Amino acid sequence: MEFIKLVVEGPLAVITIDRPKALNALNRQVLTELEQAVGQVAVDGALRALIITGGGEKAFVAGADIAEMAAMSTAEALSFGELGHRVLDSLEALSIPVIAAVNGFALGGGCELALACDFIYASEKAKFGLPEVTLAVIPGFGGTQRLTRIVGRARAKELIFTGDMIDAVKAKELGLALDVLPAAELLAHAKKIAGTIAKRGPLAVTRAKRAIDGGADVALEAGNQLEREAFAALFGTADQKEGMAAFLAKRPAEFKKA
Ligand code: CAA
Repeated sequence: MEFIKLVVEGPLAVITIDRPKALNALNRQVLTELEQAVGQVAVDGALRALIITGGGEKAFVAGADIAEMAAMSTAEALSFGELGHRVLDSLEALSIPVIAAVNGFALGGGCELALACDFIYASEKAKFGLPEVTLAVIPGFGGTQRLTRIVGRARAKELIFTGDMIDAVKAKELGLALDVLPAAELLAHAKKIAGTIAKRGPLAVTRAKRAIDGGADVALEAGNQLEREAFAALFGTADQKEGMAAFLAKRPAEFKKA
């Protein structure tokens, strides 16, 4: 892979979008490589969390590649949008938690990439935005949908209709970024949180992710039903027996994802 780096550090994987000359812009090749990397993470049963970040000093990802999109026909744009959606859906569907470490510009498709992660930490230098209307298009990789679900309709409309960028502090205020870190501490912080998650019961973390995501767009009773089923199913796992036995014996638990 030319533009995607996938590094595995024990139970954690780090994907770096690494095309700094174009501020890590997403062209077809980058998206295809990202899909491949996400596929590798999906089948690696030893991984417990994934972090996504951008290569270079300036950008997380400054958007879909404008040079590649400029001459696209409607049919080509449909196919490009489908590729982007498919890759971000596959990321969102991973069974392990995915953390976006936003180290600079997260614009357009880059902001949409971060929105497809479970949560976002931002460096003080991060800038978020959906500037597509400045190019006379709209967000094409899920931004109108995922941003709205996080910040609400009116704020999503304000950001998308103006195309203006917001800084990391404002992104935190809107609930888009969870925390703002000095640039030098961003990745270490994301790894620390991912490391904590890695110590927890892995099947339970996955079930919690599925219950939260599966319940987000359904009626409360349907969401609660998902939770009841997941809670009960976990009692059929060896890890649940281990977790509770370890607590009662006052010793650390050793989970086996079983
Ligand atoms: N696509 C292609 N190339 C890009 C790019 C993008 N999204 N963003 C930056 N680049 C390239 C620039 O063309 C430039 O290349 P050259 O050195 O070859 O000229 C290089 O990256 C560095 O960029 P700048 O010189 O512009 O850097 P800057 O610091 O002056 O500005 C910036 C930084 C404000 C992020 C500016 O680059 C910018 O506005 N980028 C475009 C942001 C954008 O509009 N993103 C949305 C794209 S549309 C989209 O994403 C659709 C969708 O939803 C799927």
